[in-house]
Amino acid sequence: MPTITAKPKIALVIGSTRAARFADVPAQWMLKQAKAREDMEVELLDLRDFNLPFFDEVASNAFVPSESPEAVRWQQTLARFDGFIFVVAEYNHSLTGALKNALDHAYKEWGRKPFTAIGYGGVGAARAIEQLRLIGIELQMVSTHAAVHIGGSDFFTIFPAVGNQPMETIEKNLLPSVKTSLDELVWWAKATMAARAEAA
Ligand SMILES: Cc1cc2nc3c(=O)[nH]c(=O)nc-3n(C[C@H](O)[C@H](O)[C@H](O)COP(=O)(O)O)c2cc1C
Repeated sequence: MPTITAKPKIALVIGSTRAARFADVPAQWMLKQAKAREDMEVELLDLRDFNLPFFDEVASNAFVPSESPEAVRWQQTLARFDGFIFVVAEYNHSLTGALKNALDHAYKEWGRKPFTAIGYGGVGAARAIEQLRLIGIELQMVSTHAAVHIGGSDFFTIFPAVGNQPMETIEKNLLPSVKTSLDELVWWAKATMAARAEAA
C-alpha cells in the first residue's frame, strides 16, 4: 500500500440553496473548526455556485458521460477532493432535494471517498443524515460513524425565529462530536487515498 503524505483535501458542501437558508451559520462555523486542524485542507463548496439542472441525463455518469456542462463542471470539482463534510438541513425527515440532485449528478467522483456531516433541525437532522448514509452506500462512499447534530434546545437557541444566538453559545456541546467526526474523516480519507493510489 503506498504511503500517503499529502493532507486530504476536504470539501464542505452546503446542501441547502434557498435564498432564506440558515445553512450558512452552521456551515461557516464548521468550516472554521475544520480549518483549525493541521491534518486536512478544507474548502467550501456551495451548491448555489453550481447551476445544476434537475437530473435529466440518459444515465448516471457511472455509465454514460453527462451532457450538462454544469454537471461536468460539478463532477470535475468533486474529483479534486478526497472527502466531504455535508452540511445537512432536514426537509420532511430527509435531505434537501438540492443535495439529492447534486449527489445524483456525479458517481465516480464520490466513490471510494469518505464523508461526515453536520446536521441541524429539531433532531439535529439525524433522519436526513441516516438517509444520506444510505445514498452514500450506493455511491460507494464510506460514512463516518460520528456526525455533528445541532438539535433540540441547541437548535432553537441559534435558530433566528427562536433564540437567534450565535453558534458560540452552544459550541461546547458540539466540539466533542466535531473532533470525533473529523478524526474519523481523516482516518478514512488517508486509508482510501492510499487504496485508490494502489488501485491506480
Ligand atoms: C420544506 C421544509 C421541511 C422541513 N422539514 C423539517 C423536518 O422534517 N425536520 C426538521 O427538523 N426541520 C424541518 N424543517 C425546518 C428546518 O429545519 C429549517 O427550516 C432549517 O432552517 C432548514 O435549513 P435551511 O434554512 O438551511 O434550508 C423544514 C423546513 C422546510 C422548508
